[in-house]
Amino acid sequence: MPTQPKALEALTFDERRFAPPEAFRAQANWRDASVYADADRDLEGFWAKHAEDFLWSKRWDTVLDWQVPYAKWFAGGKLNISENCLDRHVRAGLGAKVAYHWEGEPGDTRSVTYAELLDETQRCANALRELGVHTGDRVAIYMPMIPELPVAMLACARIGAPFTVVFGGFSAEALAGRINDSGATVVITADGGYRKGGVVQLKRNTDDALAQTSTVQKVLVYRRTAQEVPWTDGRDVWWHDIVPRQEAHCPPEQLDSEHMLYLLYTSGTTAKPKGIVHTTAGYLVGTATTHKYIFDIKPDDVYWCAADIGWVTGHSYIVFGPLANATTGVMYEGVPDFPDKDRWWRVIEKYKVTILYCAPTAIRTFMKWGSQYPERCDLRSLRLLGSVGEPINPEAWIWYRETIGGSRCPIVDTWWMTETGMILITPLPGITVTKPGSATFPFPGVRADVVDDEGKSVPRGGAGYLVITTPWPAMLRGIYKDDRRYRDTYWSRFPGRFFAGDGAKRDEQGYFWLMGRVDDVMKISGHRISTTEVESSLVSHPKVAEAAVIGREDPITGQAIFAFVTLRGGTDGSDGLSRELREHVVAKIGSIARPKTIMFTPELPKTRSGKIMRRLLRDIANGQPLGDTTTLADATVVEQIRTAGASATED
Ligand code: WT7
Repeated sequence: MPTQPKALEALTFDERRFAPPEAFRAQANWRDASVYADADRDLEGFWAKHAEDFLWSKRWDTVLDWQVPYAKWFAGGKLNISENCLDRHVRAGLGAKVAYHWEGEPGDTRSVTYAELLDETQRCANALRELGVHTGDRVAIYMPMIPELPVAMLACARIGAPFTVVFGGFSAEALAGRINDSGATVVITADGGYRKGGVVQLKRNTDDALAQTSTVQKVLVYRRTAQEVPWTDGRDVWWHDIVPRQEAHCPPEQLDSEHMLYLLYTSGTTAKPKGIVHTTAGYLVGTATTHKYIFDIKPDDVYWCAADIGWVTGHSYIVFGPLANATTGVMYEGVPDFPDKDRWWRVIEKYKVTILYCAPTAIRTFMKWGSQYPERCDLRSLRLLGSVGEPINPEAWIWYRETIGGSRCPIVDTWWMTETGMILITPLPGITVTKPGSATFPFPGVRADVVDDEGKSVPRGGAGYLVITTPWPAMLRGIYKDDRRYRDTYWSRFPGRFFAGDGAKRDEQGYFWLMGRVDDVMKISGHRISTTEVESSLVSHPKVAEAAVIGREDPITGQAIFAFVTLRGGTDGSDGLSRELREHVVAKIGSIARPKTIMFTPELPKTRSGKIMRRLLRDIANGQPLGDTTTLADATVVEQIRTAGASATED
């Protein structure tokens, strides 16, 4: 049984509220609260109506086939998602519309139209075929944030090759794990990418990963940085040697609604990431519909989702949802403080961005840097702001509203997960009266509840576990090759209902307030990292005997990684060793998992049955008074840790 965060017991609701400004409401895509009741009366009819917006080569037979816990949406239908995102718009005369304004970190820029994106996608698809990729084969994509990344995803989708995008910040070892689990036969990568003024070694990492895998036949490499890279003749192919010479014509494969579109790996409570399976039709309908109504998309909007495409946010709300809605988007390659801390605001000013969607961690970082940076720039083009990835504290919400949104933009705090594929709990910007820190209500056509340990619905005012009670179109269809884990993780805690792993509370008006994970998953800068994954990487170091990792509350990153480490006999902790262990974790997982604090302790607190008492460690790390210590096998351990605490090193 996971321990509940303290937040579940006490939470004071922020009482400020903000109604949609009348001018916004008057032009909103949805402005009448009756959408909720209409959808609720007929969930399947609601989603079917939105599915009509798309291009099907064969219409579906049934809207929903729900055999708990496996859903089929729009079964019997045939379509292609890349055709829906590209050809459909070009045929409608939107070929010259910009799909992405792209900005590289060093300052180079490109604007890619829908017609160009379609051409490049077809060429890439033909190149993949030439490299031996068939419908159903898996392709791993490990690329920087350049237009060729969506091209690669769309090209895979065009020929029905499920892809798995691996975030460019993940290590070679993490990439290898994903290639091995998915059985990918081709990797699409780049020589490198720009980040923080430096270069990320993507090709080098790919080669290191391939030393630990056996399925990959070909590596397609885009030249981004023109740096020297290791090369294997016969296996490695330059993008510029093969893609441009292809025909810009590749008929989209007509695929079953339930054809696997992609796998995306995410951390759970064990050391092994889970391959979340997403399929075609329901995912298209779910992401496009939520995108259109939550972000109030209009033909002339310039929409910027500042996530990395390596996360689900980028898949759903940089690539598929926005392209399905023929949106003009902004894509930025690098970090927010290169060359200066005003980079984002310069981008907004330059492209006259109207909608910004980002993470609370970013907002808190900007708050810390100070309002002089946004104040230098003209942000008056903005009309709507979004937040995602972790709970947003009311202070950051208000700062975002006032300093970035000029007090005129509604804010949509959107709750969802890799598994849900689409936003599930969110305000509707022309309808919902928002409260800072609350994700408000389930999207029309979605039903959620807050339940207690017995699975009973908690009355308003109470806290418990968030569950989703009915299937939704973009929901995961399983964990790749692990039916057991799929059932255990999401569907056995409260049978028939999807267990999200989040604590939540509903206030007297029924608003949902998300309160963080209730399992061993941390949210570090909005990134999901499992405590077990970091622990097992620490323990794989020869000097480490045991490790326990917890998320410590952090004012900027939400949580920060705090590692308690017990060394093997004869080894002493030192700053040097702390550094070595940090680098070890970075090599195993990636820099997002670098522990912020390492504390060497002679012993870890355990119960008599030998289970590490994480609750106590959490209290120690957070400087809280200790809870119940009576179940400790050795009561002196806590004192030893407190003494050792003096020697904890911060990164
Ligand atoms: C976890 C899922 C969804 C895309 C990015 C994260 C937390 C997400 C919110 C929010 C409070 C949130 C939850 C969830 N989370 N959005 N608006 N308010 N918490 O996807 O990496 O799969 O993480 O992120 O804890 O379980 P993910």
